[in-house]
Amino acid sequence: MLKIIDHTDFIRRNTSVLTPPLVPEVTLYLAHEAVPIWQKTEEELGEIGLPPPFWAFAWAGGQALARYVLDHAEIVRGRRVLDLATGSGLVAIAAKKAGADSVMAADIDSFACAAARLNARLNDVGITITDEDLLLGQAASFDVILVGDLFYEKALAERVHAWLGEAKCAGAHILIGDPGRSYLPKSSLQHVIDYNVPVTRELEDAEIKRTAVWRL
Ligand SMILES: C[S@@+](CC[C@H](N)C(=O)[O-])C[C@H]1O[C@@H](n2cnc3c(N)ncnc32)[C@H](O)[C@@H]1O
Repeated sequence: MLKIIDHTDFIRRNTSVLTPPLVPEVTLYLAHEAVPIWQKTEEELGEIGLPPPFWAFAWAGGQALARYVLDHAEIVRGRRVLDLATGSGLVAIAAKKAGADSVMAADIDSFACAAARLNARLNDVGITITDEDLLLGQAASFDVILVGDLFYEKALAERVHAWLGEAKCAGAHILIGDPGRSYLPKSSLQHVIDYNVPVTRELEDAEIKRTAVWRL
């Protein structure tokens, strides 16, 4: 319990309530700039080996996927949805707003889980949040699996791809939002739609990232 309160306090002190440019229907605790929160995370929390604050940004892949889900609500309406690697919780919140029956937001970073919890409350939606690494178990029990921006590391991308393949065989409908990260397994994906996503220059070295939604 104490851990959650500390996480919440850190998130509130180092972010502002903002709307991701492509998804103005959703408000999130986000960082204005990348460098200060990255430094703060290292200074205040780094000694316990935490990952960088991915949860403080609405990544291009997540923004595109959230936009697509809100504009094509029939994909999630009445379904059991998983947002794998939720970060801020953006895609999970969009899915619930679009009418999903239930939404689970999963992220192995406990700060991301705390951010997703705060952000769900901010948007007045009920979602379930887990910090369990779902990739270690069987891919079952979801009708729809949404994945925003998770193909940035080779080993992780390979695990995710294999797990999603199993989930697809088990009958899940799988959508991926990605701005062309290095390890996106494009050859096994079907292109759905492109968006021009406004992003943080410090993170992406660009103001706009051409970002696609893909179907596995
Ligand atoms: C670039 S961020 C994307 C966040 C969000 N989906 C978005 O698009 O804004 C990647 C996220 O993946 C999470 N992650 C990494 N490995 C994971 C795993 N095995 N299971 C769940 N989340 C994971 C990280 O903690 C991080 O929050």
